[in-house]
Amino acid sequence: MRSFIVDIVSLGVVVRCCVSAAEVDYTQYVNVFQGTISGGNRFPGVVAAPFAMVKLGPDVQSGKKDAYSGYLPDGSIWGFSMMHESGTGGAPKYGVVSQMPALGNVTNPLADLSRGRATADEGQIGYYKSSLSGGIKVELTATEHAGLYQYSFPAGNLSAVVVDVSHVLPSFRGLGWEQHYSKGSFDLFPDGHYEGSGTYNNGWNIAPDWTIHFCGRFEQKPAISKTFRGNGTTPKSYDSTPSVSGPERLGGVFTFRNSSVTSRVGISFTSTTKACQNIKNEIPSGTSFQSLVVKAKSRWNAEVLSKIQVSSTNKTELELLYSSLLGMFLIPSNRTGENPGWNSTEPYYDDVFTLWDTHRCHTSLFQIVQPVSYEEFIRSLIDIWRHDGFMPDARSSNFNGRVQGGSNADNVLADAYVKGVSGAINWEDGFSAMQTDAEKVPPPNNDPRAPDSSTKEGRGALPDCLKYGYITPAFTRAVSRAVEYSTNDFGLHQVAKGLGKAAEAEKYLIRSRNWRNHWNPNATSEGHSGFVVPRWANGSFVPQDPLSCDNSWIYSMNAIHDVALLKQWIGGDERFVDRIDKLFELNIFNAGNEPGFTSPFLYNFVPGMQHRSVERSRNISTRYNGGAGGLPGNSDAGAMESNILWQMIGLWPMTDQTTFLILSPWFPHMTIYLGSDNKLEITTSGGNKDTAFYVQSLKVNGKQWDKAWVAWQDVFANGGTMEFVLGPSPANWATGPPPPSPASGDL
Ligand SMILES: *[C@@H]1O[C@H](CO)[C@@H](O)[C@H](O)[C@H]1NC(C)=O
Ligand SMILES: *[C@@H]1O[C@H](CO)[C@@H](O)[C@H](O)[C@H]1NC(C)=O
Ligand SMILES: *[C@@H]1O[C@H](CO)[C@@H](O)[C@H](O)[C@H]1NC(C)=O
Ligand SMILES: *[C@@H]1O[C@H](CO)[C@@H](O)[C@H](O)[C@H]1NC(C)=O
Ligand SMILES: *[C@@H]1O[C@H](CO)[C@@H](O)[C@H](O)[C@H]1NC(C)=O
Ligand SMILES: *[C@@H]1O[C@H](CO)[C@@H](O)[C@H](O)[C@H]1NC(C)=O
Ligand SMILES: *[C@@H]1O[C@H](CO)[C@@H](O)[C@H](O)[C@H]1NC(C)=O
Ligand SMILES: *[C@@H]1O[C@H](CO)[C@@H](O)[C@H](O)[C@H]1NC(C)=O
Ligand SMILES: *[C@@H]1O[C@H](CO)[C@@H](O)[C@H](O)[C@H]1NC(C)=O
Ligand SMILES: *[C@@H]1O[C@H](CO)[C@@H](O)[C@H](O)[C@H]1NC(C)=O
Repeated sequence: MRSFIVDIVSLGVVVRCCVSAAEVDYTQYVNVFQGTISGGNRFPGVVAAPFAMVKLGPDVQSGKKDAYSGYLPDGSIWGFSMMHESGTGGAPKYGVVSQMPALGNVTNPLADLSRGRATADEGQIGYYKSSLSGGIKVELTATEHAGLYQYSFPAGNLSAVVVDVSHVLPSFRGLGWEQHYSKGSFDLFPDGHYEGSGTYNNGWNIAPDWTIHFCGRFEQKPAISKTFRGNGTTPKSYDSTPSVSGPERLGGVFTFRNSSVTSRVGISFTSTTKACQNIKNEIPSGTSFQSLVVKAKSRWNAEVLSKIQVSSTNKTELELLYSSLLGMFLIPSNRTGENPGWNSTEPYYDDVFTLWDTHRCHTSLFQIVQPVSYEEFIRSLIDIWRHDGFMPDARSSNFNGRVQGGSNADNVLADAYVKGVSGAINWEDGFSAMQTDAEKVPPPNNDPRAPDSSTKEGRGALPDCLKYGYITPAFTRAVSRAVEYSTNDFGLHQVAKGLGKAAEAEKYLIRSRNWRNHWNPNATSEGHSGFVVPRWANGSFVPQDPLSCDNSWIYSMNAIHDVALLKQWIGGDERFVDRIDKLFELNIFNAGNEPGFTSPFLYNFVPGMQHRSVERSRNISTRYNGGAGGLPGNSDAGAMESNILWQMIGLWPMTDQTTFLILSPWFPHMTIYLGSDNKLEITTSGGNKDTAFYVQSLKVNGKQWDKAWVAWQDVFANGGTMEFVLGPSPANWATGPPPPSPASGDL
């Protein structure tokens, strides 16, 4: 394994985390292009540290394709911009604060200046390169709040950089979620630098106007600096006017007599002064490009990649492991100190896309790998409630939205609470924030695509829940919302119980069973009876074929706090196993869709059936690799990546509970560093990942283990060991008590 040395002297800045020369450079295994095609929508550009605010990369146009992260593998590049999302659907967000190189005298900055690529883009952690037609090369690196552009132009011509403030990623889907440029300002300064701001709105979260400030400097003095403005096909003004502002397209053009141009750009949500300060603090004049690349690699190594170490030397597996780890920590964005909405001493994280996706298995691994930012993230969710009234299910551009099902911040908080996350979190406020979700109907946001109730935050269908204990078809997505609200209420139960609020704990435990009110024992499908279906106000079930809507099959398995009861209602162990089998046989299970994530592993609730979960785990794993098409669906802000990481670890988290279902680890030896010198060591012997993966026996912390699950306290709270013996055929090793079903009571 290659090692590298951090050149501390050349950095000119303090290295946050100290990677000694002897340590391994895990970034060598990272493919930043993992999950960038086939709908994965991962962002391959520069993210200098986990959750960095600046995500610097190319914006590509290719017919009417939406470029969610800015990047598409084919098509021409029309700008390199500072802000992006990673692995999202809905509609593109951001793609703002851009620069675009051009050759010669730029006669019309409003014209299409996009350029095809001469070769495919290249990238590593901390580094991105595009080779454009006309012999222009663009190399990018960045810090948390600033970016460094290094342009190489062909000799013998003028070199130009165009800054178009109206640049923002478009959407062609026609769903009303496209972003708009609203207005901007652009100022030229005598020393050749520029400052300004752009205001934009809409996107998937239907956000109002929001503003980003920028400050740009060139290492070479421009020969000519101009501003432009105009909405038509040619500029209304294009000259040395020092300031332009307003609702028209506007910006600046900088022309150089040098084939090499370097630009440093800072951004800030609060002011241009802060944007300039961000450059000064993070990329002072003379900073070497390479030093920032090295620093980004060392931060990712120290803060994320080195947290999970394995014995494998198989490049394919290492690429999948470390590329997936990268993909988990690109968003949200740590915008502490950059919140234009309110002054607070609490941390601030934005770009939450979305807790609906991430609460099942992403946030639990986020806690393990990045405990410090996880605590900050939870505090930020609570602070958003303090100032905006509700925690987000999704949020970007400082605005909550949009909600897909329940109020899943409740699950995120509960999952953290039961695992002892505390630090500076005010849990009384945390519980109040959860109670707001559970009790307060969010004001309507008049979403034309879901007019029945708010899609901004909270639980829109709460009125029905409170009145009937179920949700009628008066609300869209009645069944999926009802089941999610039940899991959310279970989250409230967990936190109330821990805080000693006995009455609330009891109340929300009862409410967590509301999913049962949607259970129609007479609904039949493919030899099975009993499914969650919509229900009218008069109490009758809507006669609906559960297969006509995959939702019924999937959501019938989703009250994971109440599995013992579910199993009984499905008809006992054998029927329960067959029900899970059918999800696969009928092709209902979709490895790329989060509501189905836990179902393949519920076999662990049936004595002697743990090996079936392992088979499913291996099957799901075949859908992943470290390549561009290596995710089975949208990355969904890293939810997809966290799923494969749990398969590799050989455990599956049961959100809101301390339970982890046991699968089968991939590697002879894995160490997970948990902080405070704690670690979990997972070993396998006697078998292998591909052909002899059945668990034969297990020791946990040196003791023989007969349960198909472990609890947080067993192996994560203070670390521990799990020693698996694997073999080529199933063994009936898990003869102990089944995993807990905390809402089912004594059945
Ligand atoms: C400079 O670039 C412009 C625009 O691409 C082009 O029209 C012109 O021919 C180039 N001049 C030279 C000397 O390469
Ligand atoms: C660019 O424009 C300037 C001023 O209009 C002119 O002097 C110069 O010759 C032009 N250069 C090229 C390469 O077209
Ligand atoms: C420029 O066009 C935008 C829409 O693209 C519009 O909102 C704005 O009002 C226009 N500005 C002027 C000054 O015409
Ligand atoms: C071009 O830029 C390089 C790098 O900053 C600098 O060393 C050189 O002096 C510049 N050349 C001209 C002609 O300005
Ligand atoms: C490396 O891992 C891949 C993916 O798990 C597997 O298909 C392949 O057989 C392994 N190669 C070797 C040499 O073990
Ligand atoms: C935050 O505090 C600063 C300094 O007192 C003030 O200028 C600013 O307006 C405040 N921002 C908000 C959103 O209250
Ligand atoms: C989040 O950002 C703030 C401000 O830049 C910083 O102080 C804090 O350490 C960051 N959090 C983490 C976990 O890096
Ligand atoms: C289910 O069907 C049986 C037999 O037709 C009927 O007695 C029972 O009331 C039905 N249950 C529900 C909940 O509709
Ligand atoms: C309940 O209401 C639905 C929808 O209004 C109606 O179709 C159904 O017949 C009603 N059932 C009973 C038993 O009244
Ligand atoms: C995965 O499951 C599907 C559906 O049951 C099956 O067709 C396929 O053969 C399985 N693949 C592997 C590698 O187990």
